Amino acid sequence: MDNQNNKNSNKDNFVNKYNNDNNTFEHDSKLPNDIFVTPWEVQGKLGEENYAKLMEKFGTQAISTELIEKIKKITGEIHPLIKFHYFFSHRDFDWLLNKYENGESFYLYTGRGPSGLIHMGHILPWLFTRYMQDKFKSKLLFQITDDEKFLYNPDLDRDKIAEYTYENILDVIAIGFKPELTKIIVDTKHIKHLYPIATEIAKKITFSTAKAVFGFTTMTNIGMIGFPPIQAAPCFLPSIIEKKPTPVLIPAAIDQDPYWRITRDVAEKLGFYKPAQIHSKFLPGLSNSSKMSSSKPETAIFTTDEPEIVEKKVLSSFTGGQPTIDLQKKLGANANICPVFWYLKYFFDSEKASTERYYRCKSGNLLCGECKNQLAEKSKEFIIEFKKRREKARDKITDFMFE
Ligand code: TRP
Repeated sequence: MDNQNNKNSNKDNFVNKYNNDNNTFEHDSKLPNDIFVTPWEVQGKLGEENYAKLMEKFGTQAISTELIEKIKKITGEIHPLIKFHYFFSHRDFDWLLNKYENGESFYLYTGRGPSGLIHMGHILPWLFTRYMQDKFKSKLLFQITDDEKFLYNPDLDRDKIAEYTYENILDVIAIGFKPELTKIIVDTKHIKHLYPIATEIAKKITFSTAKAVFGFTTMTNIGMIGFPPIQAAPCFLPSIIEKKPTPVLIPAAIDQDPYWRITRDVAEKLGFYKPAQIHSKFLPGLSNSSKMSSSKPETAIFTTDEPEIVEKKVLSSFTGGQPTIDLQKKLGANANICPVFWYLKYFFDSEKASTERYYRCKSGNLLCGECKNQLAEKSKEFIIEFKKRREKARDKITDFMFE
């Protein structure tokens, strides 16, 4: 086909490193011991240096200045989530843009595992995906992996998963995707469209590779072991729908990367393009931890939270501040570790406002109360508006379903 990036075929390293026959997932020496990233669990505090290590470990590329210039050339602007490095890494995004410039349109593909309600951390990549859909008039496949979450989570039964599936779909629609360009795939409902291609993929992946890439052990339930081709399948579905090789771009958090590695490994053997990715960081939780977590509801702002609750959560957030006002005025505070700063930056501040905030904070001229109040107000407004859209979504579900 054409020169898609092959440098990332470091699957072999993975296999060698992890190809042990005992039941443990050996920790990767490139990452500190308290950091653990799989598609189902992210533990530890991820700072800049750890994101760089993840890129190295996964064999992805940083979003370079040249790439940013290229995006700017095509769209005339740079989305803040790229400019602020929330999307920080990619594979073949440059290749995809070349294709686009040569007249080949691409699909977007992203998804959600319905294991709980939606919080602000989840919607950030979706807002970007919507922006991409608007800019490039791309069709979007949105997969809901109800099977994956049922299989993974011992505490979730099928009824609970069905409830989250419904609730999550309302959020997806509320994002504002174009119904005529968007199809939601619910795995257990639309499996017949995925299954033929999933079996083709599955046939090309050994247990040894799956173990190495995903950290499966011999104690993992076999549903989980068989699941990855189901998440890989929508990468190739566009080519089947369009009846010609069709480029696909996946905006997703970096923890989903193992899926794309195995998909890319089999793509050319099956006659498809390798899917391109653009990887995001995680939005920090409001506590002093790595990402916003549904399992700790007080540290995340849910789209279903009442405004008073949003306010309360924000006002009791962890910050990068000093223990006392006097100390803060004297020593300044640390915006880099402050979730309030990052929420404001990613969701609400202009570039200029955010830079000013950063320096006022650092110099001790800005106190945490002020930032918290601003974030509380802005996120309340945001959630109130989002909830209205979510209510309207109830009547639109059939318009968005794959069939
Ligand atoms: N596995 C993802 C999750 O747990 C859901 C998902 C399916 C997904 N397909 C995707 C996420 C494509 C991003 C891109 O949330």
